[in-house]
Amino acid sequence: MAYPFPALTPEQKKELSEIAQRIVANGKGILAADESVGTMGNRLQRIQVENTEENRRQFRELLFTVDTSINQSIGGVILFHETLYQKDSQGKLFRNILREKGIVVGIKNGLVPIVEPEVIPDGDHDMEHCQYVTEKVLAAVYKALNDHHVYLEGTLLKPNMVTAGHACTKKYTPEQVAMATVTALHRTIPAAVPGICFLSGGMSEEDATLNLNAINLCPLPKPWKLSFSFGRALQASALAAWSGKAANKKATQEAFMKRALANCQAARGQYVHSGSPGAASTQSLFTASYTY
Ligand code: 13P
Repeated sequence: MAYPFPALTPEQKKELSEIAQRIVANGKGILAADESVGTMGNRLQRIQVENTEENRRQFRELLFTVDTSINQSIGGVILFHETLYQKDSQGKLFRNILREKGIVVGIKNGLVPIVEPEVIPDGDHDMEHCQYVTEKVLAAVYKALNDHHVYLEGTLLKPNMVTAGHACTKKYTPEQVAMATVTALHRTIPAAVPGICFLSGGMSEEDATLNLNAINLCPLPKPWKLSFSFGRALQASALAAWSGKAANKKATQEAFMKRALANCQAARGQYVHSGSPGAASTQSLFTASYTY
């Protein structure tokens, strides 16, 4: 039967599904470094650094030139358009530095289609309400993807975790968040999807990691890799350590490596929190009406 849409060739399907699997293999996840100029400006303002292209470049250079072993935790990096063309201080394109580490890099080409239906945490709704809305949204998204014959094996999903609204007075444990999240996914996401990379959505670094760990330990069927595509929850400690000073390179890169490793462990359900977390890692990263 001829289908009224341009089908992917078997080679294209193979390439897409291999890239998708590679990004989430062995606890790896995505560093979302695709903040727009305005969003980076808000972050830099908090550490009293001017929002110039050079300052944005310098911070991202620290992330991308971190120790090569970062490729054991980070499988893909999503760049902002500006960053795709930026170079390190030796004149080497960031995208080549990342590729040489074996990390998949891109804005959309080069990566795979990433489906991102986010239910935002603004509001005082409880977790059950978030679960109800998340299930409704995910069901509609996958109905539409199927209607358009999207090749699911070659995609990744980037959803919110199911959490209560930021202003909800009731608090939930990571295990409760995990049960609500995996239940919502189990009801709506086909097993053909290779990986689900949660966004951090304003959670503190530590909360995002603890929730991801609990999600991977949740005793429900989980036919997909459950990993991370964190922006705020991978960069907050590093930004605080950097504070715009070249002399803080080592501390910045150590802070970034620490979060990347913690999230890789969490994506395998092996995160054991030890020692006292730094102040930056427990701070809520919520911003009302956040835009990426
Ligand atoms: P946050 O983790 O800051 O929500 O960002 C996720 C993301 O993937 C943006 O592209």
